[in-house]
Amino acid sequence: MEYKEFAKYYDKFYQKKDYKKEVNFLMNFIKTGDRIIDIGCGTGIHASLISKAGYEVDALDLNKEMLDIAKKRLNSSLYLQNILNINIDKKYDIIISMFAVINHLKDTSELEKCLLNMKNILRGSGTIVIDLHNPQSSGKKADNIDNMSRIMEWHYDKKTKIEKSRIIFEIDNQKYEDSHIFRIFTIDEVKECCDKVGLKVTNVYENYDINKEGVETSKNLQFIIKYRAY
Ligand SMILES: C[S@@+](CC[C@H](N)C(=O)[O-])C[C@H]1O[C@@H](n2cnc3c(N)ncnc32)[C@H](O)[C@@H]1O
Repeated sequence: MEYKEFAKYYDKFYQKKDYKKEVNFLMNFIKTGDRIIDIGCGTGIHASLISKAGYEVDALDLNKEMLDIAKKRLNSSLYLQNILNINIDKKYDIIISMFAVINHLKDTSELEKCLLNMKNILRGSGTIVIDLHNPQSSGKKADNIDNMSRIMEWHYDKKTKIEKSRIIFEIDNQKYEDSHIFRIFTIDEVKECCDKVGLKVTNVYENYDINKEGVETSKNLQFIIKYRAY
């Protein structure tokens, strides 16, 4: 169902996700007065936490149902757009894209296109932060939170760099299912795509920790990206 019906359960589903830690990490790159956009904002939690700290944060997402929830948290400009076709007439100091948004792209040519679109709305001295999922194996996990039970299953094929995942969750005796296909990008692929569009990766971190360098075996990777000439 790719977020459409999942949207209204998204926050409940990810209620244990440590958004505060992620935002604290992001604050390392944000300066007073910066204008920010959250690309693939989902229900807008990062954007709303950053705006509460006194910043103007716009947001963009492809999914109307997710953006409608973000709208309740934000009173800035929200864009119902695809990261492959961004059409915004503004420039930003900071562009963030958190939690596997980029993994929805299907190959490096789409990644290149997306990075170019981001570059087109980035101020010369600005910074892009993209947060990528980086699974190390296949697996299955079941748990319960409040009145929700959930089973997550994922299969990662290292050769094709494709992860297929399926989530089944039950809330108030009602069963729902969601599935995703993620392209997993290597550190070198991201660096090469940046290079092709005039950007450069300045740092790679893992687990939203400024003291931890991201490597191929990290479970998630945060890339800090700037204009190549800067
Ligand atoms: C896993 S959610 C992450 C949401 C949010 N960033 C967070 O951290 O909670 C992925 C989001 O990416 C959005 N998305 C996926 N493909 C997209 C695309 N091509 N353009 C814009 N948004 C996209 C989905 O609609 C969804 O809201």
